[in-house]
Amino acid sequence: MIFRYLTRTERILLVLMLALVFAQVYLEFEIPGYMSSITDVLTSYGTPDDIAPYAWRMMLCAFLALGALLANRLLVSYVASGLACRLRSLEFDKVQSFSSADINRFSAASLITRSTNDITQIQNLLTIATVVATKAPLMVVWGLYKILGRGWEWTLATAIGVVLIILIEMLMIFIVVPKYRKMQWLTDNVNRETSEHLAGMRVVRAYNAEAYQRRKFDKANDELTGTALFAARSLSVLNPMMFAVQNILTLSFYILGAVMISAASMPDRLVLFSDMIVFSSYAMLIVVAFILLGDITVIIPRAAVAARRVSEIIEYEPDIRDGEVSESPEGIRGEVEFRNVSFRYGDGGYVLKDISFKAMEGETVAIIGSTGCGKTSLVNLIPRFYDADEGSVFVDGVDVKDYRLDVLHSKIGYVPQRATLFTGSVSDNVNFGAGSSDRTEDDVRRAVAIAQGTEFVEALEGGYDGSVSEKGVNLSGGQKQRISIARALCARPEIFIFDDSFSALDYRTDRDLRDALRRETAGTTTIVVAQRVGTVMDADRILVIDNGELVGNGTHRELMEGCPVYREIALSQLSEEELV
Ligand code: CTP
Ligand code: MG
Repeated sequence: MIFRYLTRTERILLVLMLALVFAQVYLEFEIPGYMSSITDVLTSYGTPDDIAPYAWRMMLCAFLALGALLANRLLVSYVASGLACRLRSLEFDKVQSFSSADINRFSAASLITRSTNDITQIQNLLTIATVVATKAPLMVVWGLYKILGRGWEWTLATAIGVVLIILIEMLMIFIVVPKYRKMQWLTDNVNRETSEHLAGMRVVRAYNAEAYQRRKFDKANDELTGTALFAARSLSVLNPMMFAVQNILTLSFYILGAVMISAASMPDRLVLFSDMIVFSSYAMLIVVAFILLGDITVIIPRAAVAARRVSEIIEYEPDIRDGEVSESPEGIRGEVEFRNVSFRYGDGGYVLKDISFKAMEGETVAIIGSTGCGKTSLVNLIPRFYDADEGSVFVDGVDVKDYRLDVLHSKIGYVPQRATLFTGSVSDNVNFGAGSSDRTEDDVRRAVAIAQGTEFVEALEGGYDGSVSEKGVNLSGGQKQRISIARALCARPEIFIFDDSFSALDYRTDRDLRDALRRETAGTTTIVVAQRVGTVMDADRILVIDNGELVGNGTHRELMEGCPVYREIALSQLSEEELV
């Protein structure tokens, strides 16, 4: 199944590689023949000169076989690393199209193992198994062809040896293979614990929770180690057993030979001796072939699990599928409408119930409500991070499900609740995403100015080229928020979505920012989620969400009169006088 992802050239190379394996086996099997000829010459009292032609040809065969092996290895590693590279980028592209729900379904830890460890398994399989899987059967068939019918004693000894080896391999398949299969899933667990621990390091320290975390990690780690150890121990018992069989077989050849030779008369003795040499060589090749087959019977199931895990991702149909509409109707710009929208995460209870409202072009619509009431869930439906379960969301009069995703996203400037920054400079973070090459340094400065970030950005070492480290850890929460706001401003979208984006700012900066936004982005629809009544008071319209339901929709004044939930929130934050 994974072979589907090979290119034409790689397939051709694979065929060439098979030809090389064929050549190698053929050459290797010529060697015992020459050995037998040399033995014949020696036993008939020939001179070194008589041996020379055989010896040269034997050496030539050996070198050609080596050459074929080398060429083979080069080809295989070329094909295998090419495939691994392609699988990784296919996985990366697919994961980019995943909705948040899709990522939760697989879990981030598993997605990481699947694009690293699992692909390495496939690469290993391709490197080792393609050679062995073709070589071993060839060796067996060829070997049998060479020795069959030339003395039943030798053949019987070989057959007994092979049966023993097959028995040992069966043991391997039953004992070791299931463990190897399990190891991939256990690796996911270790990855999850590690990444969770790294992300939460400071909290862990602050609460002296190291021991607790350690136990959680140890559990995952021990389970993986235990399984790996069991597999390795079983192999370390079974593998030498196979070599023991191989050696006992050689020994039995010599014992058989000794008995038969001493019972025979002179000219027959020489024939028997030469037979013994040839037979023991071919029999060894056959036994080695079976041992090789045993090795790959361990690798194949492991790689098969990996291949299934990788193709599960590559072939996954994301929840959120692209629509066709690439342009909104003429004349409508920046309009957002929810019509009877209900939404829930997976099979849980409804988080949003029958929400309907409309934000017109240029309007500022604020959303307020207690924590966990569904504000983030609501705004996440606009850029289709999730899809509504019932009802529809419209942007510029078109159902968001009908848009091409890139078109939909280019209309929206989204500022998440938790600012997300990327490694790079401040400019890189502000001038981000499609269309960034069309924007200038001035656009960046303007965006940062509106976001009230000019002062701190210019104070940074390097200013706009100052570096932002991974996840922006070298910046304060409020600084990160402002860069994240500037990113949305810089893109000049039709609709802004600010999900509680002002929460880390002090009151003055919050007010200045809102004033600047009103001045500079007039005409752009703004949806702003906030906790502070002060932040939402002057919005054109305020939506009050309570437990997933829309319980108020109006201006501050209207809601103070008619919406008890809003009144309660407002009074808990500001005095009566401040609220008018
Ligand atoms: N929820 C969930 N699965 C998620 C995210 C949220 O089940 N992946 C649930 C939460 O348990 C919560 C509800 O959805 O009860 C609403 O969450 P959210 O929309 O994030 O609430 P907000 O109103 O944004 O809360 P806050 O003010 O704290 O940001
Ligand atoms: Mg929220």
